[in-house]
Amino acid sequence: MYDTTISDNGQLLTLTGASQPIRFHAIWLRDNAQDADTRSTQNGQRLITLQDIPNNLSISAARIQENDVKLTFLPENKTIDYPIDWLLEHSYDQKSKNNDQMCQLLSSGIQTWGNELQNEIPQADFKELKTDSNILAKWLEQISRYGFAVMNNGPKRNLALMELVDLFGFVRETNYGKHFEVRTEVNATNLAYTGMALQAHTDNPYRDPVPTLQILYCLQSSTDGGESMVVDGFNIAKQLRSENPAWFDVLTRYCAQFEYKGSEGVQLRARHPMIELTADGLLNAIHFNNRSATTFTDIPFDDMQTYYAAYRRMSELIDDPSHSVQFHLKPGMAFIVDNTRVLHARTGFSGAGERWLQGCYADKDGLLSTLASLS
Ligand code: FE2
Repeated sequence: MYDTTISDNGQLLTLTGASQPIRFHAIWLRDNAQDADTRSTQNGQRLITLQDIPNNLSISAARIQENDVKLTFLPENKTIDYPIDWLLEHSYDQKSKNNDQMCQLLSSGIQTWGNELQNEIPQADFKELKTDSNILAKWLEQISRYGFAVMNNGPKRNLALMELVDLFGFVRETNYGKHFEVRTEVNATNLAYTGMALQAHTDNPYRDPVPTLQILYCLQSSTDGGESMVVDGFNIAKQLRSENPAWFDVLTRYCAQFEYKGSEGVQLRARHPMIELTADGLLNAIHFNNRSATTFTDIPFDDMQTYYAAYRRMSELIDDPSHSVQFHLKPGMAFIVDNTRVLHARTGFSGAGERWLQGCYADKDGLLSTLASLS
């Protein structure tokens, strides 16, 4: 049985009847009113600004009617209904919830992993992704949860990767074009185009914002080696923090600088912390790329030694095989990574045979939007 009380000054409402009393501020309630004068009934967008709410706002009356709390606000003398379920769902009076998040570093729905995921690589068949929205939703959910997924049995034709992107969102065009070719090349302007092994990295940290998704699609592969490898950067950050909180801290506090100027007319530069946190301390992104890291000058002298110790340890953790998952891309296979979280790499391969991948970038918000709509 739910009940309500109003504080003497009319600034707080307390809802009782749930497992514990839940408090709401008058200004929060008024700003979040769902009535037709406050929120568009068509698209849910807010129709008022904060200044439309009187500064001397207070709650003058509250009563429960069926499944709603009916609140009257002064001086507007306006009565607005709040469904109790909506209040419970949007409660912010839970200190323990935030404390748990701070300890874990992770937003809900994110699961970190290491090599134990090797036998359970998230994957799906192209045809099923295209024809079965449940399978597509599951695959997108796995990308959101684990930060990567593999696609099998796709078409082996030029630009087939665009058909994959069409399933969930839009390509993000860059100076490399709508897509880029990854082949062995002589006189390569970018090390990705040679047969050299590459340390696991996030792509394009020299951009701001960085591309949030990367798709690599295999069209030909007859080389020795060239295994693809992925590493969960959030897992690395967690490990680093448990080993040495000061090292974790220094990588979140200062920005590394990244640069790319490999082709004519392009000089990209950006600053990002290697471990980026949200304002409330959750992991937001990893930016790690030894090839495009440039000279660090934004770390204070007194912290530079610690910074390099932390950077080295992060690099070691990334290279530790217990943290990576590997797979061999065959023609018609692709993988997608959350480029703000999961690092990717490939082992070295010989010049004999051919290896031809096509890659592109896309936006994670579009993928999450498609996932939310499907769900
Ligand atoms: Fe890359």
